Amino acid sequence: MTMKTILVTGGMGYIGSHTVVELIEKKYNVIIVDNLCNSNDKVLERINTITGVTPQFYRVDCCDKTGFEEVFKMNKIDAVIHFAGLKAVGESVAKPLMYYENNLISTLYLIELMEKYGVNNLVFSSSATVYGDPISVPIYEDFDLHVTNPYGRTKLMIEDMLRDYAKVHPEFNIALLRYFNPIGAHPSGLMGEDPNGIPNNLMPYITQVAIGKREFLGVFGNDYDTPDGTGVRDYIHVCDLAMGHVLALNKLFTDSGLVTYNLGSGKGTSVMELHDAMEKACGFKIPYKIMPRRAGDIATCYAAPDKAFKEIGFKTKFTIEDMCRDSWNWQKKNPNGYKG
Ligand code: NAD
Ligand code: WQD
Repeated sequence: MTMKTILVTGGMGYIGSHTVVELIEKKYNVIIVDNLCNSNDKVLERINTITGVTPQFYRVDCCDKTGFEEVFKMNKIDAVIHFAGLKAVGESVAKPLMYYENNLISTLYLIELMEKYGVNNLVFSSSATVYGDPISVPIYEDFDLHVTNPYGRTKLMIEDMLRDYAKVHPEFNIALLRYFNPIGAHPSGLMGEDPNGIPNNLMPYITQVAIGKREFLGVFGNDYDTPDGTGVRDYIHVCDLAMGHVLALNKLFTDSGLVTYNLGSGKGTSVMELHDAMEKACGFKIPYKIMPRRAGDIATCYAAPDKAFKEIGFKTKFTIEDMCRDSWNWQKKNPNGYKG
């Protein structure tokens, strides 16, 4: 059987790089397109150290249609996993046009090129953010969709665009994957999350406090309607998430149409529970202070992952303890991320 070729946009980023490793291990041929606006070219060496394979890499902006088209001209592509996008909620509020331009135009060009070059299989990185503040938990895929910030709106607009497109292109297979909160790192400690500047998300903030880069963790509110008053989220190990992409691809290669799956563990963990689990993983105290709530946050968010289990066999393997161990291992071995 000939190897299938998967184009991974944003493949140098946090989730993309882990998915590339998983794809290579499952014997796919991988091509990466990334403009490195939020990643580092060292990722390529790390992928090689883990897998023994260096995927073909194009430093191309998906919004540069001519440059992007070259990749399609030069390669026979079987499917695309589209991770490329900007993802910081706060930045999207401050710079909405930058988010609309980057996330929407890149996806629009991608679909046009896929159509032109007859590539009919797409996995798209959506987000639990499309559920807004859900009426109840766990969250099912058929819940109403509400977004509260420009980043989330780009995800919902892209989902809508793809649903419209799929209606008139029955030959086009799409998996919309709604990720919950990815954390953790490759167990080797060679790849992980490497945020620029002050981390927006909880886990990279905690690891930076643990490594001594930040003084304390600010816990954003302890008066939510949750068991300990702090926000509850569905954390998923990035390697489990990577595996979910390979399962979704297999579905596209054997079935047709558009599918939507939650990728989460189905379990809620509070900020304080995650903090305490990180203290255990590190073996020392991690200072924290209770702060006011962060604007736009919700109390509780976790997935019903039943549909993904039933239809593609998706089941998370890693526990919160594993996620903390691997995040800390990555941070310890790479105090400055990929920057040396
Ligand atoms: P990331 O920033 O680490 O990776 C995104 C990659 O895309 C980066 O390497 C960046 O350089 C690249 N990129 C951005 N715009 C580009 C463009 N126009 N052309 C080419 N490359 C471009 O982010 P991540 O955490 O790996 O997220 C991947 C995807 O998953 C994103 O679409 C994000 O919105 C989505 N997502 C992430 C989370 C999360 O918490 N990390 C949750 C839900 C959904
Ligand atoms: C988790 C919990 C915070 C930082 C975001 C995006 C979402 C998706 C995943 C892309 C909350 C609390 C956080 C800190 C804290 N990304 N917290 N101190 O907000 O659930 O989701 O990332 O699609 O769209 O919104 O994740 O990690 O920022 O926060 O107390 O320094 O940790 O209040 O309860 P969130 P997060």
